[in-house]
Amino acid sequence: MAHGICPHWVGYLLINPLRKLFENPNKILGPFVQDGMIVLEPGCGMGYFTLPLARMVGPKGRIIAVDIQSKMLAALRRRAQKAGLLDRIELRHIRGDGLGVKDISGKVDFAVALHVVHEVPDPASFFTEVRQALKQGSKFLVVEPKGHVSEDQFAESVAAAENVGFVSEILPQKVGGRVALLIKKTN
Ligand SMILES: C[S@@+](CC[C@H](N)C(=O)[O-])C[C@H]1O[C@@H](n2cnc3c(N)ncnc32)[C@H](O)[C@@H]1O
Repeated sequence: MAHGICPHWVGYLLINPLRKLFENPNKILGPFVQDGMIVLEPGCGMGYFTLPLARMVGPKGRIIAVDIQSKMLAALRRRAQKAGLLDRIELRHIRGDGLGVKDISGKVDFAVALHVVHEVPDPASFFTEVRQALKQGSKFLVVEPKGHVSEDQFAESVAAAENVGFVSEILPQKVGGRVALLIKKTN
């Protein structure tokens, strides 16, 4: 159910501070992120969630921020530099033929994909790669926009994640978003 890739100029709309009124990064991510964690964020865009994540993990933590659009990552780099958080964020530009995270296999404490899965052409591979990167028992939070993704389409994505070995929990819907928590329970 891949939609088109979000054009890079939309990235500027997504970093509007007013977004906090209906998608507050601290409320959405706070329950899952702790000091010192390694967090994987595929489809980071210009970093609306990346900068708050970097604050949450503190100076000993690290965010692996992955995107297929170099313009998104360039804007995130500038914003992170300005906020003094660049040393906690590793930016990875990928070509779209995989997430490029084999080197961190089994090292990630938490992963999050916010408004990304509906843009991914091969969800099975995407979920497989995120799962491989996670530590045993770690969680992957998936949030999808209600406007683009129907309930059935969301259920399809969750089923694709379960097929590659995630155990899922559908969380109460947030305003405008469909939310699932995927857990890596077995190898
Ligand atoms: C709608 S934007 C959301 C950005 C950010 N997560 C947010 O909520 O502000 C989707 C992002 O996912 C990226 N993306 C799409 N397909 C991807 C893929 N296969 N791997 C990594 N990033 C991808 C796009 O380039 C874009 O930056």
